[in-house]
Amino acid sequence: MAILDKHKVIEKNASLLLVFSFLVVTIGGIVEIAPLFYLENTIEEVDGVRPYSPLELTGRDIYIREGCYVCHSQMIRPMRDEVERYGHYSLAAESMYDHPFQWGSKRTGPDLARVGGRYSDEWHVDHMRDPQSVVPESVMPKYAFLERKMIDGEYIEDNMRVNRMVGVPYTDEMLENAQADFTVQIDPFGDTDGLLERYPNAQVRNFDGAPGISEMDALIAYLQMLGTLVDFSTFEPVANR
Ligand code: HEC
Repeated sequence: MAILDKHKVIEKNASLLLVFSFLVVTIGGIVEIAPLFYLENTIEEVDGVRPYSPLELTGRDIYIREGCYVCHSQMIRPMRDEVERYGHYSLAAESMYDHPFQWGSKRTGPDLARVGGRYSDEWHVDHMRDPQSVVPESVMPKYAFLERKMIDGEYIEDNMRVNRMVGVPYTDEMLENAQADFTVQIDPFGDTDGLLERYPNAQVRNFDGAPGISEMDALIAYLQMLGTLVDFSTFEPVANR
């Protein structure tokens, strides 16, 4: 074939091959990257996604501090095996307030993007204290010390302020009430109207079942909200504008 004979020329000349390879990669790159500059927004807007409540944000920081991301990803890829195991594939919007995001590619343990509501709080407490007590073959370390470490949300307002600096839309009202919202989220008898108005669907209860607010409370509050903000029974994906 004549055209394949011509290809021989490139195959026999390394410099020429390099030039053509470069050309092909350049065209491919432009086709992939250029449209991103013309899209107004690469993250679709999704109902229900909101910034983390003060207690959830604290739990997220503990998650990062303890290196949970070393073994757990938080991104369900749009492939059948993943969707059947973990639920609806992750949307960009679901991690739009994550600084830094927790997508990850290492799964020693399962993906946690939709772990919220999958287990009871008691299960989480048992599992955190001693993972092997509920999953005998687990290689996950014990985190029992979290329930003894009491916290008072002392720096939560500053923390939220920093998040606002990098683009999380915390309002002045949210900042003013940061400390109160932090405390009231584990108090089912407290006045939670303000909290629920500022953070719709925030779950209010004593997560670790023990008095006071421990790091265990914050971490479980975070885990139990993961993947629960978007109602996938009514969600319809929209093409980018
Ligand atoms: C050394 C790796 C490792 C680390 C670090 C680790 N995990 Fe795990 N995790 C696992 C493994 C393996 C499993 C599956 C077995 C089990 O349930 O214990 C698991 C399971 C889980 C589950 C249950 C998920 C499901 O869908 O069944 C949760 C929740 C969880 N881990 C949370 C955490 C949190 C929070 C941290 C940090 C405080 C953490 N893990 C740190 C390895 C790890």
